[in-house]
Amino acid sequence: MTDTTPLEVAPAVRNFLDLSDAGGDGIAAMINNAQDRKRARRGWPKGRVDTDQPLAGHVLAMVFEKSSTRTRASFDIAMRQLGGTALVLDAATTQLGRGESIADTARVLSRMADAIMVRTDDHAKIEEMAHHAHVPIINGLTDRSHPCQIVADLLTMIEHRKALPGLEVAWFGDGNNVLHSILEAAALMKFNVRVATPKGYEPSGEFVGMARDAGCSVTLTDDASTAAAGADVIVTDTWVSMGQDHAAAKLDAMQPYRVDSALMAKAKSDAVFLHCLPAHVGDEVSGEVFEGPQSVVFDEAENRIHAQKSILLWCFGKLG
Ligand code: CP
Ligand code: NVA
Repeated sequence: MTDTTPLEVAPAVRNFLDLSDAGGDGIAAMINNAQDRKRARRGWPKGRVDTDQPLAGHVLAMVFEKSSTRTRASFDIAMRQLGGTALVLDAATTQLGRGESIADTARVLSRMADAIMVRTDDHAKIEEMAHHAHVPIINGLTDRSHPCQIVADLLTMIEHRKALPGLEVAWFGDGNNVLHSILEAAALMKFNVRVATPKGYEPSGEFVGMARDAGCSVTLTDDASTAAAGADVIVTDTWVSMGQDHAAAKLDAMQPYRVDSALMAKAKSDAVFLHCLPAHVGDEVSGEVFEGPQSVVFDEAENRIHAQKSILLWCFGKLG
């Protein structure tokens, strides 16, 4: 019998381009699943497969147009622990780097892999990839947002006894992609955000509006002390994101936003310090804070694996 199914009709797929794709319930399901799986594997060697192997036989293709340590390693290990496999495609050494279209790349990889993670610059590129792909597309960071990081960050906050609703999260430095996803998370999980940036480096109004429209308090200030006062969570990130210039004017403007011991002392005494890494110790964070007792940055980094697993399971319709 002839198969008359059109070749290029995409079935409904769950993309994870931003946190809102999963919604508050989806994110909550991810965090619960990540906690359960993390607990179940305590003390296990990292290569051992989870007992249920929910993604046995599945392949994740990862396309990187920018560098990565955590995202690359955690997705790879997450797929192995879930019973599947992953492969890395460095965009520069693929035909994408020689001008093959995103549309064709998406259609080809959809025939070979069960999901595609993409790290790139322009967010429009992953939207285009999602438009043409037949399998879930996961945002592994764009210039606009970094949703996978924030699932790990939320997990880390909760592990350190910070219940999300009503939490006061304070951000210092550049109003960048990571902050955008924190603001989107605030809208979904109902916490408040204080943002201290130099003038001209504020986050996009779209993300600020998202959190405010959801009833969250978002304070935008150029005074770091105001943002830190009484905060539960202190967060920063590099002053110069991938693809940006190390402009002297920007680095000068950022100096008052370094997270140091004096700034940490203004937050609640049990506040935790988060940084997605890689860190530039001495710039956005002092060595004392980075290595200090309130820093949970390596729990946060480990949690990338547990978070990626729940993101993958959500994308494959096995969660939420
Ligand atoms: N935090 C983060 O995304 O790290 P990588 O750039 O190393 O993936
Ligand atoms: N804001 C940083 C995050 C790196 C994980 C960047 O985009 O380079």
